[in-house]
Amino acid sequence: MNDYVIETKNLTKQYGTQKSVADLNIHVKKGRIYGLLGRNGAGKTTTMKMLLNLTQPTSGEVFIFGKNIRKNEKRILPRVGSLIEAPGFYPNLTGTENLRIFAELRGIPKLDAIKNSLKLVGLPYRDKKLFSEYSLGMKQRLSIALAVMHDPELLILDEPINGLDPIGIAEVRTFIRDLCDVRGKTILISSHILSEISLLADDIGIIDHGVLLEEESLQELENKNSKYIHFDLSDTSQAARILESVFKSKNFRVVDDHNILLYDTNLPQSAINRSFMQNGLEVSESHLCEDTLEDYFKKVTGGAGIA
Ligand SMILES: Nc1ncnc2c1ncn2[C@@H]1O[C@H](COP(=O)(O)OP(=O)(O)O)[C@@H](O)[C@H]1O
Ligand SMILES: [Mg+2]
Repeated sequence: MNDYVIETKNLTKQYGTQKSVADLNIHVKKGRIYGLLGRNGAGKTTTMKMLLNLTQPTSGEVFIFGKNIRKNEKRILPRVGSLIEAPGFYPNLTGTENLRIFAELRGIPKLDAIKNSLKLVGLPYRDKKLFSEYSLGMKQRLSIALAVMHDPELLILDEPINGLDPIGIAEVRTFIRDLCDVRGKTILISSHILSEISLLADDIGIIDHGVLLEEESLQELENKNSKYIHFDLSDTSQAARILESVFKSKNFRVVDDHNILLYDTNLPQSAINRSFMQNGLEVSESHLCEDTLEDYFKKVTGGAGIA
């Protein structure tokens, strides 16, 4: 037993000769937002379908709430809300009417559940507007309302921000964040857009060609990939002492005897160089490095564009 809400063990899905998901081990912690990040075709949807037992893995296992999904589907799935593919809403009914039909099918007590879930996603209750007249953003909100209507503990949302305009994106982000912070839900969300994930997720898994390349907290990822000044000089322990005593900084990392990375990029680089040299250090190089998270994502996925 452990505290993971979702854990996969060597989860693999093979279509023909191609592995769409390969030995995937992800760990989603309770009460956090986990962002599964990867380009189109990376294996995000396939992974989520296996988590929900909609697709059978070729090998490997899925544990949700500590239990194997294959043997406990009936007990687990009522505690999970998901948005994988667009639900089949009726175009000639209103949003409220659509949710009423789904609530009936699923045996969910109607009135409050519908009202609350619409409120949560910012759609009006008993509005006259038909689903066919909804904007893409409204359709997406209604899909999420449907996913949360039965008040699940875990939400699995496949690219929920796809196709929204910038205001819609900000709003959806806010209510997803609230679902986690205010209501204590655990949320797994996928995206192919790094900026979306980095604004929302607590933990990030980077998937490429079905392989999980990284799994870390956003904080750890950002620390690894922030701006820094790289000094190549003759004695890093002395340089460290100067940074601490003269520039009052502890925010640096000694890489080896010659290389030191200073993360306080607001400190004056030329004054630091001067001080190093006045103290007898030889500085062969100093430059500002701006490895952003985006650069990093491109680097680990081995390509350029991510949008
Ligand atoms: N039913 C299927 N049959 C064959 N190949 C599939 C099937 N579903 C997905 N794939 C392939 O698996 C890979 C991963 O797809 P998918 O999980 O949809 O990626 P993502 O959601 O990250 O864009 C893709 O190469 C896709 O073509
Ligand atoms: Mg997908």
